[in-house]
Amino acid sequence: MNLKGKVVLVTGSARRVGRVIALAFAAKGARIAAHYHTSAGEARKLVAGAKSLSGADADVFRANLLEAAAPQKLAEAVARRFGGIDVLINSASLYERTPFATATPEDWDRHMAVNARAPYYLAQACAPWLKASGDGCIVNIADWAGHRPYADFGPYCASKAALLCVNKLLAKSLAPEIRVNAILPGPVLAPEAMGEPEKKKVAEATLLKRLGTPDAVARACLYLAESADYSTGAELTVDGGRLIA
Ligand SMILES: NC(=O)c1ccc[n+]([C@@H]2O[C@H](COP(=O)([O-])OP(=O)(O)OC[C@H]3O[C@@H](n4cnc5c(N)ncnc54)[C@H](OP(=O)(O)O)[C@@H]3O)[C@@H](O)[C@H]2O)c1
Repeated sequence: MNLKGKVVLVTGSARRVGRVIALAFAAKGARIAAHYHTSAGEARKLVAGAKSLSGADADVFRANLLEAAAPQKLAEAVARRFGGIDVLINSASLYERTPFATATPEDWDRHMAVNARAPYYLAQACAPWLKASGDGCIVNIADWAGHRPYADFGPYCASKAALLCVNKLLAKSLAPEIRVNAILPGPVLAPEAMGEPEKKKVAEATLLKRLGTPDAVARACLYLAESADYSTGAELTVDGGRLIA
């Protein structure tokens, strides 16, 4: 796919990894629909940055993906503003510590809603435009821990495992018109509260013995959208070998 002028919806793109993904697509001349929930100022800054990279159009869209009606409203708002949708990147995510002994049903519901249910319904809502694109694709940002869960983050890891199932389900349901693939990042950007000693431990646990970068995830997204024209239902690890370590 030639990304110039294509409409790319990136969820959770005001900050951190989603922001780097959105800027990578903007640099290719894509028009960016920058979804955010609470980071309004950062989303506006991202859009200004995206426009300055290539001169292509960009705009912000607010949605709380905990709400069941949000995906449909978001897809309609983006299609109304840009006239279509060519690429959907599901990057928004809830990541909360929820130890085994104290995790609540509400913890489960929130993680499943944002990390697995919302990507499914966003795909469903965007599907008519992705099909009309003739070249539409979806990238789901999952996690290596969807295959090997770590303690204290049970609902998060289970929701990412569910997202890996959703990835296959969407690939089957939307073929042959729309390709659907997942990226499984490893430690590419530490949580803001993580100290240096813990970062060192996390890096040591990978095969490559170092932390990754959001840019590595963005390059993988570009590959899946631009070049992976015979891949659907695939899982691409960007984890320094963490999954098999
Ligand atoms: N960082 C890593 O090393 C790493 C490792 C493995 C996998 N991943 C995956 O890569 C993706 C990006 O990672 P990240 O660290 O940048 O993610 P993040 O900072 O944890 O979250 C990204 C964005 O998700 C949005 N979000 C959270 N709850 C939401 C809700 N209810 N409705 C709508 N949006 C909501 C937030 O938007 P607002 O700020 O606008 O509220 C947030 O900025 C995620 O899917 C993550 O699971 C990341």
